[in-house]
Amino acid sequence: MLAGKRILLIIGGGIAAYKSLDLIRRLRDQGAAVTPVLTKAAEQFVTPLSASALAAEKVYRDLFDLTDEAEMGHIQLSRSADLVVVAPATADLMAKMANGHANDLASTVLMATDKRVLIAPAMNLRMWLHPATQRNLAMLAGDGVLVVGPEDGAMACGEFGPGRMAEVPDIVAAVRRALGDGPLAGRHVVVTSGPTHEPIDPVRYIANRSSGAQGTALAAALRDLGARVTFVTGPASVPPPMGVEVVAVETALDMAAAVRAALPADAAVFAAAVADWRVANAAGQKMKKDGTGGLPRLDFAENPDILASVAQMGEGRPRLVIGFAAETETVTAHATAKRARKGCDWILANDVSPATGIMGGAENAVTLITAEGAEDWPRMAKQEVARRLAARIADHLA
Ligand code: C5P
Repeated sequence: MLAGKRILLIIGGGIAAYKSLDLIRRLRDQGAAVTPVLTKAAEQFVTPLSASALAAEKVYRDLFDLTDEAEMGHIQLSRSADLVVVAPATADLMAKMANGHANDLASTVLMATDKRVLIAPAMNLRMWLHPATQRNLAMLAGDGVLVVGPEDGAMACGEFGPGRMAEVPDIVAAVRRALGDGPLAGRHVVVTSGPTHEPIDPVRYIANRSSGAQGTALAAALRDLGARVTFVTGPASVPPPMGVEVVAVETALDMAAAVRAALPADAAVFAAAVADWRVANAAGQKMKKDGTGGLPRLDFAENPDILASVAQMGEGRPRLVIGFAAETETVTAHATAKRARKGCDWILANDVSPATGIMGGAENAVTLITAEGAEDWPRMAKQEVARRLAARIADHLA
């Protein structure tokens, strides 16, 4: 349900705008309040009067409307909502958003908002497939904009293919996900992710090849089910998801402290590839060649095992503690032993031998190891692994 939530609905100028009138109704059926904003082009497809009547609210249309500015102001309009939805998001609106234009009310509100934005693109398939639109889409996704659809299907222009706006129930479901209305609502989950960097001196460090992709996907999937997520990340090569609390750390010691500070939590998932050792004699100044050919000597100290310390902490332990086990041989046996040794509830084991292409790749093939035994999951996208694991976590905490 969306009771008490306010949606700012920006209706773009495309034939799919007629579906947005139904979207207003369906969002209100769920208890949401809807404030419509129409672009000039949208008014060619739907009238402000229909949008206003269905929303039972004033419709906003013009950036330079003195009455609107006196009553509300475009900045306040952009902030008073819990979520901004753009449906239909035309090629032009997407291009404006991606490039930061602010030359009408809709684009200005989108620039000024501090809330999450969900777009439902709709356009002719050639326009959708055009490299410019795909480039804009990638930029928007990188900025954390949520996207629902488009779908494949027959289009008003007579062509068939991708570009049809997502159906209204799918947009409503995406709105609910974006607002954290899911089975993990009210739960707090800590996720560690990425590599750690262990300094040798102020400019050099020891690291590993973890991209942070699996941990990032997991944080996003938990957020989508409504969890409050604290995302403790080392220097990853993929950006952190929007809508989670990001705690950026560098070393294993920083990560351990950040995890302790983030507790209590209902669940903790340790997806980070933490360095096992740090350089004990890291230099305070940049190390120099001394001209004699002498080589530096690095001494190592063992880093704390963050997963094991949380799994074995007794009072205040999260109900569910999950680790990952990256192995290159006898994966299930090693991971089963690791689960017992570390004292965690579940281990997600994967084979990271170079031939699998998993480390740094888009897919993962994991085995979930619990007290009940081992369960092999087929190879799938890291996002899909994340969704499945998030769903299992939600079941377990229910
Ligand atoms: O012992 P190993 O590094 O294989 O264990 C992997 C699991 O332990 C991962 O979940 C990883 O995030 C976690 N870990 C940790 N702190 C360490 C080492 C590993 O939390 N110092």
